[in-house]
Amino acid sequence: MIHKTSCLLLLLPLTLIFFDFILISSLAKPTPITSLSVLTYGAKPDGSKDSTKAFLAAWQVACASPNPTTIIVPKGRFLVGNLVFQGTKCTNAPISFRIAGSIIAPKDFRVIANSLQWIMFDGVTNVSIYGGVLDAQGSSLWKCKNSGGKKCPTGAKTLLFTDSNNISIYGLTSINSQKFHIVIDQSNNVKIDGVKVSADADSPNTDGIHIKNSHSVNITNSRIGTGDDCISIGPGSTYVSIQGIQCGPGHGISIGSLGRSEDEQGVENVMVSNVDFMSTDNGVRIKTWGKVSKSFVRNIVFQHINMKMVKNPIIINQHYCLDKPCPKKESGVEISNVRYEDIQGTSNTEVAVMLDCSKDKPCTDIVMGNVNLVLQMVNGSAQASCNNANGLANDVVVPFTPCLKRDLLLT
Ligand SMILES: *[C@@H]1O[C@H](CO)[C@@H](O)[C@H](O)[C@H]1NC(C)=O
Ligand SMILES: *[C@@H]1O[C@H](CO)[C@@H](O)[C@H](O)[C@H]1NC(C)=O
Ligand SMILES: *[C@@H]1O[C@H](CO)[C@@H](O)[C@H](O)[C@H]1NC(C)=O
Ligand SMILES: *[C@@H]1O[C@H](CO)[C@@H](O)[C@H](O)[C@H]1NC(C)=O
Repeated sequence: MIHKTSCLLLLLPLTLIFFDFILISSLAKPTPITSLSVLTYGAKPDGSKDSTKAFLAAWQVACASPNPTTIIVPKGRFLVGNLVFQGTKCTNAPISFRIAGSIIAPKDFRVIANSLQWIMFDGVTNVSIYGGVLDAQGSSLWKCKNSGGKKCPTGAKTLLFTDSNNISIYGLTSINSQKFHIVIDQSNNVKIDGVKVSADADSPNTDGIHIKNSHSVNITNSRIGTGDDCISIGPGSTYVSIQGIQCGPGHGISIGSLGRSEDEQGVENVMVSNVDFMSTDNGVRIKTWGKVSKSFVRNIVFQHINMKMVKNPIIINQHYCLDKPCPKKESGVEISNVRYEDIQGTSNTEVAVMLDCSKDKPCTDIVMGNVNLVLQMVNGSAQASCNNANGLANDVVVPFTPCLKRDLLLT
């Protein structure tokens, strides 16, 4: 008897352990993905009811969820004003937006134009956006600015990610931004794929994608045409990869402007590959202010690039300023190790390669290989112009003769 009881007593905790095990293993299974529609929170796809609060309410639920959540924005037009998706208090479980419709800004540009941005994600982690159209309706603000109106507001950027981590943007379309379309600031591990950005060629300051103070940003397979840079890379950007882009109209792909202030962060490890430029002002550009600065640009690759009727296909401008005429002040930004490989096509101006480096900090280790740029007009030949530019030209480099001074470091 005694023996049997103790046996039962022994069995009981064992059984409990067994059930605990089942419980734990079922918890370890992938958690269900919750999905919620903005319609549930009062958003209306009619283009006229203000859906700002509904979007925020959906975000709050997703933000608090310990499970991955998908926020669905169905077909239709959703009017929203300034939106801030605050992430600092979220659980950080992945949140995806699946957008089938359009999100539009108020018709009157003044409603959002005095804010820095229209839609902001601040301090978020693991957020993805799939599809959708963002239409900031900026054209009346461009008109105001272009007609020399002094009272026009600066305008809002369309979509800003700041202080964020692990962000993906797939297949999003952004049109008619008041100012920059997509801005990545102080954010790391960002993937942007298959986006379309467009604004009129004469729309002021409508950069497609602007990156600053961010690390590991990949932009792939996207089409960008605006009134300013297709992509601009500002201070403090590192490990930026740009591949498979169609750019135009606009001002091209630009590193800079840099060196506006003395202790600004530099830019390094940037790769720009497989890009078609079409009727742009610049192709690949590095641009720095003619000002004292400790900043730098280094380890840059521009490769496999096609130029079609581009004004300045390859350009380094270290004497940037806004005064006219521009006082020739030297830039303190140190540019080194920039590679131009396999760059073909046509230039709209005689100087197809312009390397205007700083006298104080000459460019070093500029390497050109298989560059072949011809003048659009058949009766002229393209030229290269260099100032304080040191490096080496390999293989076919047209315009010939490349004006680079042989860099001692490379011999
Ligand atoms: C969210 O991101 C953080 C780091 O950014 C990561 O450690 C974490 O595993 C992610 N969470 C999920 C659920 O993917
Ligand atoms: C990044 O985010 C995605 C989707 O939001 C998530 O599935 C993935 O686990 C995250 N990765 C890291 C390293 O946090
Ligand atoms: C960006 O691309 C590089 C090289 O292709 C890869 O190593 C890196 O993980 C990518 N980063 C992101 C955030 O996708
Ligand atoms: C090319 O030819 C056109 C017409 O004959 C002429 O107007 C133009 O100045 C020429 N351009 C150059 C660079 O010689």
